[in-house]
Amino acid sequence: MKPAPVGVARPVSHHITNEAFHQAVAAARHAPSAYDLQPWQWRITDVTLDLFVDHTRLTTRTDPDARLATISCGAALHHARLTLAAHGWRATVTRSPDDADPAHLARVRIDGPAPVDAETAELARVIDLRHTDIHPVTGDPVEPATLRTIATAFEAQHVRLGLLRPDQILELAVAAADSASLEPAVAQWQKELALWAGNDRIVGSPGGRLPTVSCGRDRAATFALLHGPRDNAIDWLHAGEALSAGSLVASTFGVSVLPFSAPIEFAVAREALARVVPELGFPYLMVSLGRHPAR
Ligand SMILES: Cc1cc2nc3c(=O)[nH]c(=O)nc-3n(C[C@H](O)[C@H](O)[C@H](O)COP(=O)(O)O)c2cc1C
Repeated sequence: MKPAPVGVARPVSHHITNEAFHQAVAAARHAPSAYDLQPWQWRITDVTLDLFVDHTRLTTRTDPDARLATISCGAALHHARLTLAAHGWRATVTRSPDDADPAHLARVRIDGPAPVDAETAELARVIDLRHTDIHPVTGDPVEPATLRTIATAFEAQHVRLGLLRPDQILELAVAAADSASLEPAVAQWQKELALWAGNDRIVGSPGGRLPTVSCGRDRAATFALLHGPRDNAIDWLHAGEALSAGSLVASTFGVSVLPFSAPIEFAVAREALARVVPELGFPYLMVSLGRHPAR
């Protein structure tokens, strides 16, 4: 069946609604997901598109309460919403529509045709282009005006984006270096934070680790924490929608957003975050922003 072109609105029929939902679900496959597990399941009918978290695709060891999986589902939901909007559909989303089924994260309904603005069409276009790049970023940090635009995109999805100061990153690195946990992912968080802060800045001492004064390698990156005042599944869903929205807007500026889940996965790391940045409420996901050299 020929897909409806971006930007063209049509009268709603069940057949067309169903086709629009299939387009949305196809686009959602490009959403970022923790460990690339794509832990979402869609159910399409002629009138509704339902999103479920797929418990068979959870990493129960590192994600026992499906926090990361729900964030990933939120990213898929935003990709689907954006795709509907870019094809000229106004949709209503009900989050957590069924109290009896917590796995049922959202229900989407199409209300009718709507005009497509240029920004929506452009964001839908970059869905295919965005990808997670773990290589170190280089050059100058993202300029403040661009950072503000990206932060606005994150925050339009009902979460806050708190920028972390270099001294807070350093303090987190010191806290992570002090952790005696043998979890491989904690070791990974220690390694990555030490890299961000600069390996040479973390030195041993009998009572723990102390920061030294030289510069870290990843000075081109800006670190931020997605956070909010509550810590429920609906907040994690919003955090995922924000990750999608912020990452797509960042892509239009040539800026990469790298999510970093270890600080959220482990109690020891969450406690360190709460200690170092107490003003930031409940942490949902840490991200770094920066530009990669052209390859
Ligand atoms: C909630 C969440 C947590 C993530 N955590 C990490 C992480 O800690 N480190 C990392 O390199 N990528 C992380 N990612 C990115 C995924 O690895 C990436 O989205 C996935 O491999 C698919 O690749 P893509 O984003 O290029 O489509 C995370 C993504 C999500 C949604």
